[in-house]
Amino acid sequence: MQQDKVKIKLSGVSETLMFPLWGRAQVSKEDSSLFYDAKAIELIEKIDFDFLASDMPFVGIMLDIIRKGKLQPMFILVALMAKQFDDEIKAYITEHPHASVVNLGAGLDATFYRVDNGIIQWYDLDLPAVIDFRRQLLPEPDRVTYIAKSLLDPSWCKDINTEDGVFITAEAVLQFFEESEMKQFFSMLADNFPSGEIVFTSMSRSDIFREWFDMFPPEQRDSMRAAWTEALKDWWEKSPQDQKDAAIISLKTPTKPKGTKWSDLEAWGEKLSDEEKEEAMRDLVTAFSHIPSGRVGMWALKDVNEITTWDSRITVIDQHPLCKYIPRDSLSADVRRLMEHFDVCGALNIFHLRV
Ligand SMILES: C[S@@+](CC[C@H](N)C(=O)[O-])C[C@H]1O[C@@H](n2cnc3c(N)ncnc32)[C@H](O)[C@@H]1O
Repeated sequence: MQQDKVKIKLSGVSETLMFPLWGRAQVSKEDSSLFYDAKAIELIEKIDFDFLASDMPFVGIMLDIIRKGKLQPMFILVALMAKQFDDEIKAYITEHPHASVVNLGAGLDATFYRVDNGIIQWYDLDLPAVIDFRRQLLPEPDRVTYIAKSLLDPSWCKDINTEDGVFITAEAVLQFFEESEMKQFFSMLADNFPSGEIVFTSMSRSDIFREWFDMFPPEQRDSMRAAWTEALKDWWEKSPQDQKDAAIISLKTPTKPKGTKWSDLEAWGEKLSDEEKEEAMRDLVTAFSHIPSGRVGMWALKDVNEITTWDSRITVIDQHPLCKYIPRDSLSADVRRLMEHFDVCGALNIFHLRV
């Protein structure tokens, strides 16, 4: 019941944790053969989160669309990403059954429960406010330690047992940082975990969230455009006038709406070409979202060999597009198409390094 739910109020980048959690829960409910995460379903049922009160409107819009169940491709993407991480972790702990696994920027991720071999030491690290919520919703089980620190704070390295190998994961996290911060971060790992390994995701372009539609196959873009329009309408109607004025000023289209009511935007939008409409929607979402100050999508990496030039102790184990190793024979044609598209467009990659 609603009154039993834990009220979640996060700020800034930490709000983004709701997004993968929601996706994993949704796929687990709808297509458990693709991916199954019982804890994600349990967590979502415990949470009371006010999507429309988000102070990061871009994230809020995405979360709202996801909550309403209209971005199936996005859920699948999140689940596929989690599946890849599970496989990478399982491969490492098969070789090093007593290893320490460190989940950086853990949010409300429950990977431990999916991969545990009964012996590993597990660490979930996130910012203190997030760890507080995590503890409330999912108290630490045996062999799991929560660390309430920034991943940029070198002191967390001393909290890790390094006796039997260290495997670090950072799923949908490192894109929120500056390149200079990442340079220090990777050297910090090499200083503290010689021959430890890290697997992380990275976007190939720092503007990928702005170019949202490019990430999906053309045949899925119409339904996504419709979902975005509907969510944007909700946001538009609840936003203060000065934000609407600023959003209209930011439009790069040759014409502008005649007023700031949603109906003015609709009337104006009807006269635009599809391309102009898409461009206008990006401008509006971007203006609403304050994406630069919200630190979404800042660090991008196309080729992981770049990191080896930052620190010669670091070597590359693997780099591949998101879905490359996921067997797809048993999956539906839609999901296969999405995976193929992702691998070809290369928007999101998984990198595996030894430090
Ligand atoms: C998109 S969420 C991903 C969460 C989780 N990895 C998942 O897949 O469900 C990004 C996470 O990074 C965390 N984060 C952001 N900055 C951080 C920092 N400096 N140190 C540790 N975690 C951070 C956020 O609080 C958030 O939980």
